[in-house]
Amino acid sequence: MLHDKDRIFKNLYGEQSWGLEAARQRGDWDGTAELVAKGREWLVQQVKDSGLRGRGGAGFPTGLKWSFMPKQSDGPVYLVVNADESEPGTCKDREIMRNEPHKLVEGCLLAGVAMGCSAGYIYIRGEFVREAEVLEAAVREAYEAGLLGKNACGSGYGFELYVHRGAGAYICGEETGLIESLEGKKGQPRLKPPFPAMVGLYGRPTTVNNVESIAVVPTILRRGAAWFAGLGREKNTGTKIFCISGHVNQPCTVEEEMGIPLKELIEKHCGGVRGGWNNLLAVIPGGSSVPLMPKSVCDTVRMDFDSLREAGSGLGTAGVIVMDKSTDIVKAIARLSKFYMHESCGQCTPCREGTGWLWRMMERMAQGRARIEEIDLLFDVTKEIEGHTICALGDAAAWPVQGLIRHFRPEIERRIVEYTKNARAAA
Ligand code: NAI
Ligand code: SF4
Repeated sequence: MLHDKDRIFKNLYGEQSWGLEAARQRGDWDGTAELVAKGREWLVQQVKDSGLRGRGGAGFPTGLKWSFMPKQSDGPVYLVVNADESEPGTCKDREIMRNEPHKLVEGCLLAGVAMGCSAGYIYIRGEFVREAEVLEAAVREAYEAGLLGKNACGSGYGFELYVHRGAGAYICGEETGLIESLEGKKGQPRLKPPFPAMVGLYGRPTTVNNVESIAVVPTILRRGAAWFAGLGREKNTGTKIFCISGHVNQPCTVEEEMGIPLKELIEKHCGGVRGGWNNLLAVIPGGSSVPLMPKSVCDTVRMDFDSLREAGSGLGTAGVIVMDKSTDIVKAIARLSKFYMHESCGQCTPCREGTGWLWRMMERMAQGRARIEEIDLLFDVTKEIEGHTICALGDAAAWPVQGLIRHFRPEIERRIVEYTKNARAAA
């Protein structure tokens, strides 16, 4: 269980002002120039030692990612912050930008120094109008106070920070789609490799990090890598912001220790599942892009990257979607299929054609208007999409359907049998 003293985000609920003065009272921008003076090797090593893994969904080690950036460069290298938070069930970065924007702004400077960047771009989701206004105002405050710019914090290091608003496409949250969009082009993902660390924004080495990953960095550096590494579990260290929605008594966004049991998370912070734990049907633990878990798995699973992977799902964005027994689970997954079909950028065939096909099949499965053999066909098609596309959207469309078939096949079969019986009776 996380103690208040170990909480990084002290103003997650906006009880105090987000502004610079209040942020400073909470400890932000304290001794930043001294941290900058320690130099890039020290900064990268601290983040490596902390065990911080990317908070956007993939869980890639942040310090390792930073170390891919060139040590010497013949031109500009960039930091890009992915604030295009669009994953269904996910609203953690939104709370940071609304209520703790200075953690992100200070984190950008420190990450920029660690990677030798002279500029950073925060790409924020178009729908986050209020958050963009707050963030822009926080960046302005930081400039006026001399914390950013030519001589950031009086450290002698020059760092410029820009906020760029997106236009509402989910795919612009994929890092290379985001880079394309930032360059003023259509937001379509690039083939990887080369990874952005080699060829990124304007063809220059670039690191794309999630908002939460960057916002925790100043606290890690001030309190020490060992402190962060001492929280959570091995290889799954630190704290994490979870957003819990759906059929719980009090949906909420909360910072907790990585590895907290799912049941404890829901009972401690959300007043439990509506109708009690035994009324739970399934949980999608990490935004819509990871497979659902039936109650039997939820009973014991811990909320961290490795535990959830071993349980056949994933931590993803830690957007926890709780579904009780009143849920039409087949229809719920069919709705997700519609989302992925709508958000596909259309660039590669398995995704462009496959997501529409999955949605149409799922709609028929939800009604029972299908043949039993088609369940296997549906599963096979998800396997043809998974791993055969340019970006992870194809996988994300496939996994929820796979999870459904794996855990709720009898429910799909029941509907088909019932529909067939009714159709015969009516004929
Ligand atoms: P990924 O595993 O391909 O990459 C993760 C990061 O590591 C990237 O920044 C990539 O450039 C870097 N990386 C990986 N291998 C590398 C190598 N060999 N050399 C250099 N850099 C390397 O995952 P991806 O596609 O970036 O993210 C997928 C995740 O995003 C999903 O797990 C999903 O949960 C999450 N997601 C989050 C959303 C949100 O709103 N926060 C929206 C949609 C998906
Ligand atoms: Fe576009 Fe889908 Fe291909 Fe990603 S997988 S590049 S979203 S078509």
